[in-house]
Amino acid sequence: MDTRQVFVREIEKNDGNTLSINQFEVGDVGCVVWDAALVLLKYMETADFDSGREWQGKRILELGAGTGVVGIQAATLGGDVTITDLEEFVPLMQMNIEANSRLMMGKIKAKALKWKDDIAKLPANLDYVLCADCIYYGESLGPLVETICASAGEKTIVLCCYEQRTTGNKPELEMKFFELIRERFVVEEVSLENQDPLFRSEDIHIMRFRKKPDPT
Ligand SMILES: C[S@@+](CC[C@H](N)C(=O)[O-])C[C@H]1O[C@@H](n2cnc3c(N)ncnc32)[C@H](O)[C@@H]1O
Repeated sequence: MDTRQVFVREIEKNDGNTLSINQFEVGDVGCVVWDAALVLLKYMETADFDSGREWQGKRILELGAGTGVVGIQAATLGGDVTITDLEEFVPLMQMNIEANSRLMMGKIKAKALKWKDDIAKLPANLDYVLCADCIYYGESLGPLVETICASAGEKTIVLCCYEQRTTGNKPELEMKFFELIRERFVVEEVSLENQDPLFRSEDIHIMRFRKKPDPT
């Protein structure tokens, strides 16, 4: 049993219900909810998604889910969701699925998925791939890009939300990530006006990718 201290983050949904997300006081970066996750999950309830109705029955994969909060939001909006992260995060994601089970309108499961190594385990025919604050690690940048490429079909929409950082190697990582992504995808930025009026920020970007048509 995990004996780490848990503290709960409560997040209000537009329908008046509240998500309760367990976070650990001690642990790797994925054990708390990041601001990019909040911006993305609130965007999912905006007019761009018919106030959240768009998610009903959609097949959704979340990569680097950490606490699982973004995917949990998608399942409460009716999606058929798989939330994934490294093996060590599966118990936390599972705990959060259980803590919010009464709000689930769709289906959700938590799975271990290490970028690139576990490409064979990716679900097929996805409508959406979600990813919040994952452009963070030099060593796994290529594996993340490969996993996004392998998970997306021609109709899949990838929503990648990230906080723009100005320190260390982060600006370089971001540049490299988008250079690699643009080789395979058409990339658009979601304007601030289309995002949630409260949960948005100049330094948090939501990018929308779609696979370029196969030239053959
Ligand atoms: C900065 S955290 C963001 C967590 C969550 N998406 C959020 O925004 O609250 C990045 C996440 O990526 C996961 N991650 C890092 N490298 C990974 C890899 N090689 N395969 C799968 N997940 C990975 C981490 O475990 C962590 O949960």
